Amino acid sequence: MSSPQKAASEIADMRLAGAGNQRIDWSDQLMPVLRGIRRRFRDEKPLAGVRVGACLHITSETANLMRTLCEGGAQIALSASSPSSTQDEVAASLVADYDVAVFARRGEDTEAYYQALNSVLDTAPSLLLDDGADLISLVHKERPEILGGIRGATEQTTTGVLRLRAMARHEALEFPVIAVNDSETKYLFNNRYGTGQSTLDGIIRATNVLIAGKTVVVVGYGWAGRGVASRAAGLGASVVVIDVAPVRALEALLDGCRVMSMAKAAPLGDIFITATGNKHVISKRHFNAMKDGVIICNCGHFDVELDLPGLAELAQEQTEVRPLVEEFRLLDGRRLYLLGEGRLINFTAAEGHPAAVMDMSFANQAQAVELLTHSSLEAGVHQLPQGLDHAVATLKLESLGIEIEKLTDEQREYQASWEEGT
Ligand code: ADE
Repeated sequence: MSSPQKAASEIADMRLAGAGNQRIDWSDQLMPVLRGIRRRFRDEKPLAGVRVGACLHITSETANLMRTLCEGGAQIALSASSPSSTQDEVAASLVADYDVAVFARRGEDTEAYYQALNSVLDTAPSLLLDDGADLISLVHKERPEILGGIRGATEQTTTGVLRLRAMARHEALEFPVIAVNDSETKYLFNNRYGTGQSTLDGIIRATNVLIAGKTVVVVGYGWAGRGVASRAAGLGASVVVIDVAPVRALEALLDGCRVMSMAKAAPLGDIFITATGNKHVISKRHFNAMKDGVIICNCGHFDVELDLPGLAELAQEQTEVRPLVEEFRLLDGRRLYLLGEGRLINFTAAEGHPAAVMDMSFANQAQAVELLTHSSLEAGVHQLPQGLDHAVATLKLESLGIEIEKLTDEQREYQASWEEGT
């Protein structure tokens, strides 16, 4: 019998559910911390009666978060947080096997993307999960009639947290949001090791280029940029870093990277990767200074980091030369290769971050949803309490069979004292 969730869903193809289910199970094996929370949620049902509206990358890892919330008693409507990140088979399995209402198709256009977000909001959710803050922004801008029923929200990514802090500064944010991104067990692992690996994975899958010996220009040295730079260096690239923040630029230098302006890096680089969360960090004049044959891509949340209209203006001809690789031929014959239309390369050409890091991110998410359900935080941007954040690290270590050192009583006393010195 068709459930209301199934009936409402808008996905690419229900026949993909079997393949999606296998994929979800594979990731589940790699997500022991989330599995532990799921077991507890199954027993305690802390989310009974909660209607969750989620806007997340629809991957096998997200599916395991959705399963966890369902086991806790939540009813879920889910849309994609990027038009090109949806794994259609996972979307099908979520509908068929886990009774989640899903509104997403890989490759949907902007209109369909926002239609899907509105479909999620039509279910009158009491809690939102967001990745990039489009859902939270939309409900404030266009759906004020349901604002009153929303207890709070979570935000998964740096870009989203920046937007939400701007909303809070403008006194526009009407409910509490837990910035899951800001948990140590999120950004130190997901943003650094997750983005680092999945971005290089995407570039390699799309192009099969050798990274060793290349000059890789990383724009932005936040946690994602640091991860990308270290993985590129690990594969034998010479890494150039661009950043506007002096401390980060200095850190990149002492990490062994060359640091310079974008104008200086443009004619040097073989591969350009943006990871800033900002707009047009590689502009038309930079594209115009690049060498023949360069590869350009983005791993920041939105596709605005590259000035794509500027690139199109420079091009005499645009041709897809391989899946996800578009050649822009300039007037003088130089060829610049743009990957995945400038969207998140780790999703367009790869599978997003590995399950082992999403395990920690989504354990934080599940705990944040539970906290929002059982507490009344003020409107504004909040962090997950450090105890919950650090518990994720403890559980992760336990799952890996790693025991760490403990303080002795003498050391604890020493740490708490001030009298003892030289
Ligand atoms: N963000 C980055 N990688 C992800 C993944 N695998 N699933 C969901 N969200 C992600």
